Amino acid sequence: MTTPAPETLAKLTPVLTKRWLSPDAWRIATYEKLDGYAALRKAIKAHPDDLIQLVKDSGLRGRGGAGFPTGLKWGFIPQGDGKPHYLVVNADEGEPGTCKDLPLMTHDPHSLVEGVIIASYAIRASRAYIYIRGEAVHAARRLRNAVNEAYAKGYLGRDILGSGFDLDLVVHSGAGAYICGEETALLDSLEGFRGQPRLRPPFPATHGLYASPTVVNNVGTIASVPYIVLGGADWWKSMGTEKSAGPMIYSLSGRIANPGQYECGLGITLRELIELAGGMQPGHNLKFWTPGGSSTPLLTAEHLDVPLDFEGVAAAGSILGTTATQIFSDQDCPVYATYRWLEFYHHESCGKCTPCREGNYWMVRVYRRILAGQGTQDDLDTLLDTCDNILGRSFCGLGDGATSPVTSSLKYFKQDYLDYIEGRTAPKLSDKQLVGAH
Ligand SMILES: Cc1cc2nc3c(=O)[nH]c(=O)nc-3n(C[C@H](O)[C@H](O)[C@H](O)COP(=O)(O)O)c2cc1C
Ligand code: SF4
Repeated sequence: MTTPAPETLAKLTPVLTKRWLSPDAWRIATYEKLDGYAALRKAIKAHPDDLIQLVKDSGLRGRGGAGFPTGLKWGFIPQGDGKPHYLVVNADEGEPGTCKDLPLMTHDPHSLVEGVIIASYAIRASRAYIYIRGEAVHAARRLRNAVNEAYAKGYLGRDILGSGFDLDLVVHSGAGAYICGEETALLDSLEGFRGQPRLRPPFPATHGLYASPTVVNNVGTIASVPYIVLGGADWWKSMGTEKSAGPMIYSLSGRIANPGQYECGLGITLRELIELAGGMQPGHNLKFWTPGGSSTPLLTAEHLDVPLDFEGVAAAGSILGTTATQIFSDQDCPVYATYRWLEFYHHESCGKCTPCREGNYWMVRVYRRILAGQGTQDDLDTLLDTCDNILGRSFCGLGDGATSPVTSSLKYFKQDYLDYIEGRTAPKLSDKQLVGAH
């Protein structure tokens, strides 16, 4: 394990993670001692429109994967329309490799609750929901406890802090389906229907939960809001890059010495992140990695110095996504890794549209054939052709995302595929594993 140089260590900017190591940070008494609910006291005295403007000025972009400007999204909610407005927090966190929202809710749930209250006040919502993954039992317990504590202190409920503003907050556990992280499938699931994406337009800003104006934001997005209220837009913009402002929690996993969450200004490079994480594991050299979860095209050792912000990663041909960097070495096989991801997409495809439902089913079978040593060169063309029929032709981003590891691994590691096809690499799957795709 290597020790990071002082200038690399200085790149850590703990903002959302700053309380995580404080004992009992999840209890309201600790949270209040560490500036907790100070932002709410300040925000509730401001005009809601000024809060929306503040978030616009800060340059905050959604932390759920697409990087949509948050203030702009809030500004789409029609005002004075006489309809109920809703805030829905997307805490489904299902993207493989992503683990930033769950630790935040486990260690510092009140920062999310405080963000929810401020954001609801800004968009004039009197009911908010946090939709959390069903499997995240411990985080949900911590969140429910935080919500109860906030009610008891008068931060939730009627006439919050004597302002006349009312808000109820419900923590809703999903049932563990990746597609329910897609915002419109999430809304259907929250309404009690099977979670499948909705046709857009109309968009959630006008026809969201119960056909009413709704903002859907990621946990990290909403938990950023109290810091922006307290620190101001200029302070927030002093971190990150011009178009990708603020700090970001990078989740590092795989062949590195110290996997975990590292919060740094947007624009840090993987070379610096690996150094912060104590280097690669002994005996391992970087071969490929995902910049933002398995739905983002793979990058290689050539891309160690790409700035990990929305623009930098796009220029390198990938997507920043959820900043889930999964790191693989020369002892890992990109063909097998891609196959495992495809098994996931095939399993999680909701089946609503043909390109994703059928395409992923068939691609899994082609991968099994290649990994069992029975593939042909034509199989590689079939994979690319199938991706061509999925990308841009699927109903939601799940289908598009499934093509990312396939096309990028074929772009950078075609030789690894040919080594299975031409018999230089021993088969990883047996004949028995060729059949039985669900
Ligand atoms: C298949 C799929 C899964 C998704 N899963 C999540 C998720 O778990 N959490 C999340 O915040 N966004 C997820 N998204 C993105 C959401 O649809 C939406 O863009 C996001 O919640 C908006 O919040 P933001 O503007 O704060 O980023 C997913 C999208 C797709 C297509
Ligand atoms: S792309 Fe896949 S997950 Fe999305 S609607 Fe179509 S079948 Fe469902």
